[in-house]
Amino acid sequence: MNSPLKEDAPDTPFDQSLRPPVFAEFAGQQRVRERLELMVAAAKGRGDVLEHILLSGPPGLGKTTLAYILAQSMGVNIKSTSGPVIEKAGDLAGLLTTLERGDVLFVDEIHRLQATIEEYLYPAMEDYKLDIIIDGGPNARSIRLNLPKFTLIGATTRSGMLSAPLRSRFGMDARLDYYAAEDLQAIVERSAGLIGVPIDAGGALEIARRSRGTPRIANNHLRWVRDYAQVRADGRIDRAVADAALAMRDIDADGLDEMDKRVLEALVYKFGGGPVGLNNLAVAIGEEAGTLEEVHEPYLIMQGYVKRTPQGRVALEKTYRKLGVKPPSGSGHVQGELGI
Ligand SMILES: Nc1ncnc2c1ncn2[C@@H]1O[C@H](COP(=O)(O)OP(=O)(O)OP(=O)(O)O)[C@@H](O)[C@H]1O
Ligand SMILES: [Mg+2]
Repeated sequence: MNSPLKEDAPDTPFDQSLRPPVFAEFAGQQRVRERLELMVAAAKGRGDVLEHILLSGPPGLGKTTLAYILAQSMGVNIKSTSGPVIEKAGDLAGLLTTLERGDVLFVDEIHRLQATIEEYLYPAMEDYKLDIIIDGGPNARSIRLNLPKFTLIGATTRSGMLSAPLRSRFGMDARLDYYAAEDLQAIVERSAGLIGVPIDAGGALEIARRSRGTPRIANNHLRWVRDYAQVRADGRIDRAVADAALAMRDIDADGLDEMDKRVLEALVYKFGGGPVGLNNLAVAIGEEAGTLEEVHEPYLIMQGYVKRTPQGRVALEKTYRKLGVKPPSGSGHVQGELGI
């Protein structure tokens, strides 16, 4: 039996114990954080309920964390579920009818909600009403449930897959971005403090730089480096210890992961550096085009490995350097990027 309450949280207990419980401990994402804090202050000031909020961005950047912080700072309960887990209108009704005024319903992977469930959600979000049909066939009747005014917080890694009507029903569309190294460094230092491992600034920065702009990865690396420091060093983490520990796990000096490397290799070796269309590149690496575009590619673009052009994806000079391959001299786009 599937319960509509989410059970399979991707985060380990380790992750959860490091999850910042309040805005003040949530590093980075300055602009998003300010907007959300303002919404909370305004809603609380009016004694009102928080508007519906959509949190989007690649995995591990803090969407679930923010949903919990939002509920906590409003002083309300949060019920957590996930798009694919809600199979029937009844599942949705079961969740919505347990909410009290102001409570948060957190729907993770909201892009995976079935279209029929989405239709039920619209009036629930807009008018706090749910029309459900009970009994099939000739006995079918529709009943209307009045819901308390609640807040829906949706999270998605694939915001492009959200339907326009669903998107338009959120009062705030908050997009999370990859973290700057200094922010990740602060996260690593905070986590190290919580798990009680001594670390210096150089060690924290080394872990931060190699974490693909992602707090979840930074925390995972920290856990590994802690183990390494305990067994191979004196238990303290500095730059040299972090470097040796991460090298032992084949963690790229630039923080790229396996999929990143596959993208870069396909781009250069199979498509001569591009331009290549998204779909062709996706097939070559065995990934869905949308996932490539919204989950893997943004980091490579931000870091200056890849560029999106109207003709397709193009490898930049940094990619050739990374792979140790000479950039094709005749290709104008590569030359053009060298000066930047
Ligand atoms: N701004 C932050 N400051 C400190 N720690 C953070 C921050 N953001 C995320 N983390 C840490 O990273 C972990 C992963 O974050 P979270 O689970 O919120 O990501 P997510 O965006 O929901 O990922 P997914 O898309 O995979 O569900 C958290 O457990 C938390 O410890
Ligand atoms: Mg999450």
